[in-house]
Amino acid sequence: MPVPLPQLIRSGLAERFSVTRLWEEPDGDAAIARLAPTLRFVATGVPILAEGVSRPIDAAFIGRLPRLELIANMGVGYDNIDAAAAAARGIVVTNTPDVLTDETADTAFGLLLCVVRQLPQADRYLRAGKWREAPFALSASLRGRRMGIVGLGRIGKAIARRGEAFGLEIAYHGRRKQDGVDYPFHANLVEMARACDILMIAAPGGPATRGLVGQAELDALGPQGVVVNIARGGIVDEGALIAALRDGRILGAGLDVFAAEPDVPAELVAMDHVVLLPHVGSATAPTRDAMSRLVVENCEAVAAGRAPPTPVDETPWPPRRIGAT
Ligand code: 8YV
Repeated sequence: MPVPLPQLIRSGLAERFSVTRLWEEPDGDAAIARLAPTLRFVATGVPILAEGVSRPIDAAFIGRLPRLELIANMGVGYDNIDAAAAAARGIVVTNTPDVLTDETADTAFGLLLCVVRQLPQADRYLRAGKWREAPFALSASLRGRRMGIVGLGRIGKAIARRGEAFGLEIAYHGRRKQDGVDYPFHANLVEMARACDILMIAAPGGPATRGLVGQAELDALGPQGVVVNIARGGIVDEGALIAALRDGRILGAGLDVFAAEPDVPAELVAMDHVVLLPHVGSATAPTRDAMSRLVVENCEAVAAGRAPPTPVDETPWPPRRIGAT
């Protein structure tokens, strides 16, 4: 276990496996060298506990572990893992989809409402005793808005369903137009931004989407535009976003994720027209427990020679080398 994971995973794995907590080792490199001849499974994730350490499972890390069979990730996003390098070695990667879909979509919608209706600002206004002086200023509205979803996967679709219930028009951008999906598809993200006034980011992170939303997309969204990101901070060019917010070229932003978590740019913290959350998209007790159980189930299945419940696309079960040279 390279990074601290929830107690439910720690106790679940301890029943059947000998687990090394790499972040507690005084010398991590020496520990990897010591474990390499026998280490078969890695259980990892974006660190969620106070320790705040991060250790990407990159090609170099994978290359040091000749007996590795499984990398079990806590989280649906696995941009912390080089899944292609794992596939080339026939190492299976699993993640935790589905169990967090609705929770994360709820968070996305909550953020959207908070930004458009300025609900956290209104709360702060009341607590500061200002209500007695004057009513809170009128906010923008969700009525009549069009939401463009970047990445119409499981979470994107759950957000779209919520959007429909709220009377929003929906469009989407992604790698390709999806069969059986009636929402308008935009192959060009700037064009979608021009046609919308909400940009909802729900795409996978990693090199393929890094900096996907930049100045051109934000300017196309326009002065009533709202950006919500519950995916990965790196998908948005944070500098371009800060400039657009500062200059009033968009209305506001709701961000659950940042490029260098847990560091959040001071410019964003100082702004009143943004709503900032500490990566809590899936962070409810029942959902985090379900994610934890799924991590343990994936490990147990592979240990027993069974198909893991949720392998990622790059490494289907049964394991085989893909793209090896
Ligand atoms: C994190 C997430 O995994 O699922 C994802 O991709 O970003 C989150 O649910 C969570 O912080 C647990 O590490």
